[in-house]
Amino acid sequence: MDINLIQETIEDDLANLNSISDLEDVRIKYLGRKGLVAQLTSVIPTLAIQERGVFGKKVNALKNKITTLIQEKEKSLKVQVDSSQTNDLDIGMPGIARGLGTRHPITQIIDEVCAIFTRMGFSVVAGPEIETEYNNFTGLNIPLEHPSRDAFDTFYLKDYTKMLLRSHTSPVQVRVMKARKPPLAIVVPGRVYRPDAVDASHLFMFHQIEGFLVDKFIRFSDLKGILGLFAKNIFDRDIKMRFRPHFFPFTEPSVEVDISCIICKGQGCSVCGRKGWLEILGAGMIHPNVFKQVGYNPNKYTGFAFGMGIERIAMLKYGINDIRLFFENDLRFLRQF
Ligand code: DAH
Repeated sequence: MDINLIQETIEDDLANLNSISDLEDVRIKYLGRKGLVAQLTSVIPTLAIQERGVFGKKVNALKNKITTLIQEKEKSLKVQVDSSQTNDLDIGMPGIARGLGTRHPITQIIDEVCAIFTRMGFSVVAGPEIETEYNNFTGLNIPLEHPSRDAFDTFYLKDYTKMLLRSHTSPVQVRVMKARKPPLAIVVPGRVYRPDAVDASHLFMFHQIEGFLVDKFIRFSDLKGILGLFAKNIFDRDIKMRFRPHFFPFTEPSVEVDISCIICKGQGCSVCGRKGWLEILGAGMIHPNVFKQVGYNPNKYTGFAFGMGIERIAMLKYGINDIRLFFENDLRFLRQF
């Protein structure tokens, strides 16, 4: 084995490689336990004594030289890796586009309705979707024999007696009135649940907004004024309203409220069933029995309450004819809002 030849081959080997792992192979080839330098060293004992010193020194020098060459190559490889990484960064390349989302149309209507009422001094409150039977019914003067308490009309929770998925947002009236004293002006948006067969106008889950106002000397005319302002704000300046007598256990007197059809302006069309009117909410003066349940004196306080379906408002406002569209998560539908 020729020491000079080895020195030349290492220089060739190093010149031709360009990765750290190839460099490691070269290191093993020359400096490894069975590498070329080790082989040279093993020759020393076989030499004549006077030659050993000179040869040994040459081998040592070769070993140091190779070690230095490998270290230098390693340094230059690392510099190359660093600079090749910075060269890959093309600051002129377009970024990754993240699509901008929009609020769901139901969320938009909830926000709009809440904004109208907060401008009139109402506060927004939330309540739980899992309710007690008491808050959902009894506290609202809904008697035990009322059909809405039937298991066909309310989702009762199996493992908890007296717990259910709220069937309306009205139980939040009971919660808020038990926790606070009048004057109160509150709106409550949220999900409600009913075991209805699903079709174009029914779902097992939908959204309502409840509103109520309690103070001394609150009259039915206050309810009319507030709801009139609301309808003009959410629909149209020249919308008309009418109040029809109705029955709800938690209000007395109770009404259903219609607006003049926003499609045909009251002329009669397929959306309003040729009547010229659209029912949009239920309302009334809070029943004295509700005040008694929450510990208010019905001779001291009066108040009104109302409740409306959000999907219905959204369908009227946007001309949507199938409630299921809101929850199918079809972006072609949702992107229009
Ligand atoms: N809770 C009623 C429902 O789900 C809606 C309602 C009617 C709410 C009259 C009220 C009200 O606060 O006064 O059908």
